[in-house]
Amino acid sequence: MNPTTDQMKRGEFLRSLGMSSAALMAFYCMGTGLTACSSKSDDPSPGTGSGTTPSTGITGNANTSAGAINFTLDLTDSNFSKLKTAGQYVLVGSLIVAKIANGSFVALSKACTHEGSDVQYRVTQNDFYCNNHGSEFSTTGAVEVGPATRALTQYKTALSTDGNSLSVTA
Ligand code: FES
Repeated sequence: MNPTTDQMKRGEFLRSLGMSSAALMAFYCMGTGLTACSSKSDDPSPGTGSGTTPSTGITGNANTSAGAINFTLDLTDSNFSKLKTAGQYVLVGSLIVAKIANGSFVALSKACTHEGSDVQYRVTQNDFYCNNHGSEFSTTGAVEVGPATRALTQYKTALSTDGNSLSVTA
């Protein structure tokens, strides 16, 4: 699918503002709906804390700014297959999705409630950690260590019976 002339103009404009191609792709995906973005990303970087939502392996809405959270991850897609391993996590839209130490799935808002940095999952501590100022959150999102004072929002997860897709809903 070729970008429309409008998208190209928008891309040129945004590029002139210094946005990377990955950021542009995320911008297009937000504007057109995630299912419309089917091209392979060069660098999906799942679980690395990049904050970029991969363009394949996901259907539905993962951004709180676009309404109710309701999306499904394809765990057979290379962007999300790491979620078959306990201790791994991915950043998806506004959320962090982790397969925690006991093998269950947890989905929380990824923005630290202190100043909004992305949190990460730490398998050895079995918690969610913000390395900006050191806040720690439990696997239900509750604050364990400040300076954050408000919990992360918890979302529901449901694994398909074949174990190949994970649904996340508000
Ligand atoms: S932004 Fe997370 S602890 Fe400050």
